[in-house]
Amino acid sequence: MAHDDILVADELVKSYGGVRALDGASIRLRGGEVHALVGENGAGKSTLVRILSGMLTADGGTVRSAGDTRIAVVSQELSLFPDLTVRENLFPQHPPRRLGLLDRSAMDRAARPVLAELGLDVDLRTELGELPLAEQQLTEIARALLRRPKLLILDEPTSALPAAAVDRLAPVLRALTDRGIAVLYVSHFLDEVMRFARRVTVLRDGRVVLAGVERAEVDVPELVSAMLGGRPEQPPRRVRSLADRPPPVVLSRVSVDGRLTDVTFTVRAGEVVGVAGLQGAGHLDALAVVCGRTAISAGRVDVGGRGLPRSLRGAVRAGVAFVPSDRKRYGLMVDRTVWENTTAVSWLALGRGGIAPSRSELVRRTVDLTERLRLGGGPYDLVARLSGGNQQKVVFAKWLATEPKIVVLDDPTRGVDVGVRAEMHRIVGESAAGGAAVLIASTDLAELTEVCDRVLVFVRGRVTEEVRGERLTEHGLAVAMQRTNGAGGAGGGADSPAGR
Ligand SMILES: Nc1ncnc2c1ncn2[C@@H]1O[C@H](COP(=O)(O)OP(=O)(O)O)[C@@H](O)[C@H]1O
Ligand SMILES: [Mg+2]
Repeated sequence: MAHDDILVADELVKSYGGVRALDGASIRLRGGEVHALVGENGAGKSTLVRILSGMLTADGGTVRSAGDTRIAVVSQELSLFPDLTVRENLFPQHPPRRLGLLDRSAMDRAARPVLAELGLDVDLRTELGELPLAEQQLTEIARALLRRPKLLILDEPTSALPAAAVDRLAPVLRALTDRGIAVLYVSHFLDEVMRFARRVTVLRDGRVVLAGVERAEVDVPELVSAMLGGRPEQPPRRVRSLADRPPPVVLSRVSVDGRLTDVTFTVRAGEVVGVAGLQGAGHLDALAVVCGRTAISAGRVDVGGRGLPRSLRGAVRAGVAFVPSDRKRYGLMVDRTVWENTTAVSWLALGRGGIAPSRSELVRRTVDLTERLRLGGGPYDLVARLSGGNQQKVVFAKWLATEPKIVVLDDPTRGVDVGVRAEMHRIVGESAAGGAAVLIASTDLAELTEVCDRVLVFVRGRVTEEVRGERLTEHGLAVAMQRTNGAGGAGGGADSPAGR
């Protein structure tokens, strides 16, 4: 190890059952610098963090550290106790004691400078749960700092932090590295990486594809390429002209307090429009507006010619079908039959056209749909008995049975196999061909490139770009999502307005 090395990991291997989470990953962390670790979901970042910090044992490889290396980890999942006070949370294991009693004033003396450094002005007696989430997150960072670590690991600390709190982090990290501490910073916000880090390591499928390169030597598009790898891109989608078709979805200068600012777009009949963004970018809030699940603070909305829907029920009446990602929670009654599920919302949709479909008509539609969807099961099978992919098909069928004018999909193929995924895409295409306006969000960027005519990219609550045609590729989308300063490319963003 070199004299400034704090921790050096070599050729780490870790498998979970058949999944190789790490496949020979190496990293070298030096004192006095922030080292960023990036990669797509599932790349192995958290596994690496757990091994470095000793929470997990590797199957192979070595971790060497300089003498007395204390390591503190702040992870994405808060590990605090909301019912306890801030003080109790800050000293969970080794609170200062005097004559066997907890020494509160010693605790406070230790805590104050750390809290001040983080810009956290809280009464230590406050119950943690009463603080806003951002301050809870900063409290967790404070607790880590109170352990006086030589290496501080932040595993996606900012996905829960608003931009203002992220700005507080910059001087804190600088002060830490000035004291010779090493920081490992895991984030999928590449602009943050460019602001905070001196070096970047990129993991892909458990392997290091960029090893500790200096920040000045890479830009965001290169990082995105490294993260995505040499995956074959879809051939570009034909640009269809649908300008003469009516738009069942119109959002005009819509704002939602703290989440969306001045968002304008339409979705025309027959069109498939995607929305994309990093966590908290506002794209899912736009879906929520169309589904009547969010109040707006400014602007005009028209869904299905009925104005702003005030509830999901209202949206359904306006002709919306909503296919959620969490089918267990929103989509299905698993202890009922396929037929009961597929007809359940058709009743909700009644107010729309006047006449209720008859029961035999509904059964006919169910059989029709299960055939169209190639469902692996009959109308009288219990949904609980079906595979995950077939359950998701039932969610589709149930909504398609309402003959929607507007189809809203949130991550519709998460967790289904490639065969089911392809069939879902076929159904989406057929719905659009049948005249539905389709609006889709997906964490799977390839999905958006496969099914969408165009994709609206959201950054910090605004639509910053519309991507279509030749530019509609995974790489193009990923880069656009990372762009925090409008037209610009890498870096910058330090002075961007809040609103993450
Ligand atoms: N406890 C676990 N059990 C089984 N598989 C796991 C576990 N933790 C992680 N994995 C798998 O290991 C891979 C890497 O996961 P992770 O390290 O969490 O990635 P990242 O933090 O980059 O998103 C993924 O395929 C994930 O599903
Ligand atoms: Mg992780």
